[in-house]
Amino acid sequence: MFNTSISVLLLLVFPAVISEVVDFSKCSEFFFEGKSPNITGMLVKSQSQNNQYKTICQKYKNAYRFATLYDTTNRIPVFSAYTVTVDKEIKRPENTWMNEPQQARKQDYMINNAHNYIPGALFPTSHTADKYTVLSTFTLTNSVPQNNRFKESIWNLVETEMKTNMDSYCHDNNKKTLSYVLTGVIPGDQQLNERVNIPSHVWTAFCCFYSSANVCVSKTYYTTNQRHNNVINIRLMNLGDLETFLNERLGGGINLFDGKCSKK
Ligand SMILES: *[C@@H]1O[C@H](CO)[C@@H](O)[C@H](O)[C@H]1NC(C)=O
Repeated sequence: MFNTSISVLLLLVFPAVISEVVDFSKCSEFFFEGKSPNITGMLVKSQSQNNQYKTICQKYKNAYRFATLYDTTNRIPVFSAYTVTVDKEIKRPENTWMNEPQQARKQDYMINNAHNYIPGALFPTSHTADKYTVLSTFTLTNSVPQNNRFKESIWNLVETEMKTNMDSYCHDNNKKTLSYVLTGVIPGDQQLNERVNIPSHVWTAFCCFYSSANVCVSKTYYTTNQRHNNVINIRLMNLGDLETFLNERLGGGINLFDGKCSKK
């Protein structure tokens, strides 16, 4: 009862994110060189290839904040795409999950499930640069069921390492951080509340211009969606390795960043 009133209140205080199902060309600023990834059968040239997959531009307070390819059958995103820009101190607001009727529901995550999965955001608050963008990430179309120990045992480290690398390498002409990130999942073979797919793996990649060396650089990681006892389980790889992994799992035809970022 108490929890319910709190979330209803917060929903009133924070207006909902509008997950607009529109062509990715409407929010191409979140993709490296304005081009969204090609994934045969899902997404080619910014267009969904199958009704199962919806291209979503995530709007909050009248501006697009990031983009998501959403899988309506598994009720989880395939990936979210966002830019990382200059950092500011951000405080993470609590309990501000936004409701979106046709998607996974908050209730799906509140069921006392045996495996303790919680909604994990693909575009994490630690990579946002302003208050409205923070709030825009609290949407279930940006979330997947994550093992409740997954983030603290390994994924926070991945996100921090990504951010450190982007701050060192990725700069625009004004010497401010600018990087393009894709974070996604591989669907697993279990479901939460018989509705929401529990991903087997989480992956992430960035590509940006490294102005001092006049080249584009990238770093990528993937790991299983479970508690990890050892950070050695983080798989730091080059872009080519990640694309090979994704091709094996998602059926081929993957090109994440338009061939400009070194695959090695
Ligand atoms: C996707 O494929 C089209 C051609 O079919 C190409 O123009 C575009 O650059 C590709 N995008 C990426 C991210 O590789």
